[in-house]
Amino acid sequence: MSPSPEDKPDSAQASKQRAARAALGFLHDGMILGVGTGSTVNALIELLATEGWAARLRGAVSSSDASTARLRAIGVPVLDLNEVTDLALYIDGADEATRARMLIKGGGAALTREKIVAAVAARFVCIVDHTKLVDTLGHFPLPVEVIPMARSYVARQLTQLGGQPRWRADVTTDNGNAILDVHGLSIGDPIAMEASINQITGVVTVGLFAARPADLLLVGRTGGVERI
Ligand code: 5RP
Repeated sequence: MSPSPEDKPDSAQASKQRAARAALGFLHDGMILGVGTGSTVNALIELLATEGWAARLRGAVSSSDASTARLRAIGVPVLDLNEVTDLALYIDGADEATRARMLIKGGGAALTREKIVAAVAARFVCIVDHTKLVDTLGHFPLPVEVIPMARSYVARQLTQLGGQPRWRADVTTDNGNAILDVHGLSIGDPIAMEASINQITGVVTVGLFAARPADLLLVGRTGGVERI
């Protein structure tokens, strides 16, 4: 989907800030917050500090070492997910999103932990700028986390599914694995594609969030925030 005419091309960062600020409306005193990864989430973490939320949260569960460091730097205790049974809210960004709230994630290589925290959370609020909204997923190369020794095998299987996988050679995930970015996919049935890729031996996680989509999408735009 094309940006609305009022969305200026240089406004993506401001739109991320707007979406992040809108997400503050879902916080409650004393809650444990699930926190994702990326520049939109970094804007959220900054707002947690400047808007006084760092002291009001009981703690956070984090989807990456990078977000953990940022949360600790503003004084938010970061908890082990295994110690948390009730996680009311997870807030994270996305690389692409549809109006069905299905997502491609993993541009920051944190997709596996992101998917785990999303699975545990009662509510997943996704914060994006307007450039992320699409009609069909797949223009953004689909990240797949793989066990390192399976990288070439998985790449061959992904080619059979119609994609062109490229190894993100300079990246090792927080879990010690490799990332393949699959180019050239037009993902007409995201739930089926997610299941197919997850079944390839050696795949840890595919960055399609379709079986468990976001519950609410906050799309930052030049003129405000659209709720989907
Ligand atoms: C990290 C992610 C991020 O949510 C995604 O890459 C979006 O990042 P940004 O907010 O910087 O645009 O999935 O693995």
